[in-house]
Amino acid sequence: MANFTKATSIKDWLNQRLAIEKVEKVIASEYWIPKNINFLWAMGMILVFTFKMLLISGIFLMMYYQPSIDQAFDSVNYTIMREVDFGWLWRHVHAVASSVTFLIMYIHMFTGIYYGSYKKGREMIWISGMLLFITFSAAAFSGYMLPWGQMSYWAGMVITNIFSLGGLHMDGLVEWIRGDYVPAQAFLTRFYMLHVLLLPLAIIGLMGLHFAALRIPHVNNQDGEEIDFDAEAKKYLDGDKKGSKVMRFANDFLSKDMMVLGIFLIFFFYLVFFNFGFALDPVNMDKADGLITPKHIYPEWYFLWSYEILRPFSTNIGLIAFGFAQVIYLLLPWLDRSPNVAAANRRGKFKIWFWVLLIDMIVLTAMGKLPPEGIFSVIGLVAALVFIALWIVLPFITKNEKKV
Ligand code: HEM
Repeated sequence: MANFTKATSIKDWLNQRLAIEKVEKVIASEYWIPKNINFLWAMGMILVFTFKMLLISGIFLMMYYQPSIDQAFDSVNYTIMREVDFGWLWRHVHAVASSVTFLIMYIHMFTGIYYGSYKKGREMIWISGMLLFITFSAAAFSGYMLPWGQMSYWAGMVITNIFSLGGLHMDGLVEWIRGDYVPAQAFLTRFYMLHVLLLPLAIIGLMGLHFAALRIPHVNNQDGEEIDFDAEAKKYLDGDKKGSKVMRFANDFLSKDMMVLGIFLIFFFYLVFFNFGFALDPVNMDKADGLITPKHIYPEWYFLWSYEILRPFSTNIGLIAFGFAQVIYLLLPWLDRSPNVAAANRRGKFKIWFWVLLIDMIVLTAMGKLPPEGIFSVIGLVAALVFIALWIVLPFITKNEKKV
């Protein structure tokens, strides 16, 4: 048994039992962050905020939502949107936050790629980040099923059908996932469970892993400089705050984050109140009907790039290309073979690779929304081929990269 003394304050009492001072130092006041970073390093904290908004608004929506195929549509579009005071506000917050979470996640990912923040020592940050991306994708997809509108039903049909396509031919698996031959009550019940329980729990666990993975390597910086954190921290604690290359996580870095978060909030609430339409598909304002297929089925904007990689090919090749797109980002720390941790603009061929990838993702996204006809299907095919080619050439162009 440890040696407990009579506590002089509540803090002291807690400290003797939970070592709160030590914990506070490890995760806040002596968690050192480089000074040489820009606003893009606030995206992680904005994601924490948008996730909180999703949780809070989701809890309010759950109070009135009915997970039954007869009542789900009306419980959302009538009860929540018209009858419940401020129900519309929680729905707008939830829809806008889910869409914006993906926008910020993409910015956060591409910041990591641009600055090489996935390199040696930071692989776990990257992997846990990608697992967060995949889990968020599953959460968004399962959430999209819940209003039981036309897009919910038909997107559910198309995506689960993927397993029965081409060489996969796993019809049994499709029925197993749906719990029926077509999306129906069993399907809605299990997607509801995934959306409100299992996936949020997984996200919370993965966020814990993501933050833990950041603690030892520390965040990267704009110059990719290898900072001696112990030496710089000592300088800071000895009083040379200006000369030290690091600052405290709390409250120095947090106060900078709050500034960026404040600007983000203006944008976020502008969308919630005045421009929420982009996050709510008009086709989903019609109740699910298994006998009427919408003319053109497409996913939400954040899935369009990978949808467009599936679409232009024949079934089997399309499935392989789609599978490739789902896992390839995970392998980035090993496909980029240069040890350089530096901004892409200092990395020769990698600079071109980065910008072509970013533009290609935008082209794929734009084409994914359009019907696959005429020139659009040609552009879509070229963009999908460019995507695959980019990842194949990456190890070769980075292998002999000059040291910067
Ligand atoms: C909701 C999801 C996520 C949350 C809450 C989150 C949170 C954070 C936070 C707070 C940081 C430290 C500060 C910063 O650089 O912004 C960070 C860093 C990082 N995250 Fe995420 N992140 C998420 C998703 C992702 C995704 C999808 C990836 C991509 C694979 C990713 C990759 C990284 C990387 C590589 C870093 C290190 C940046 C550096 O060292 O400079 N994260 N994340």
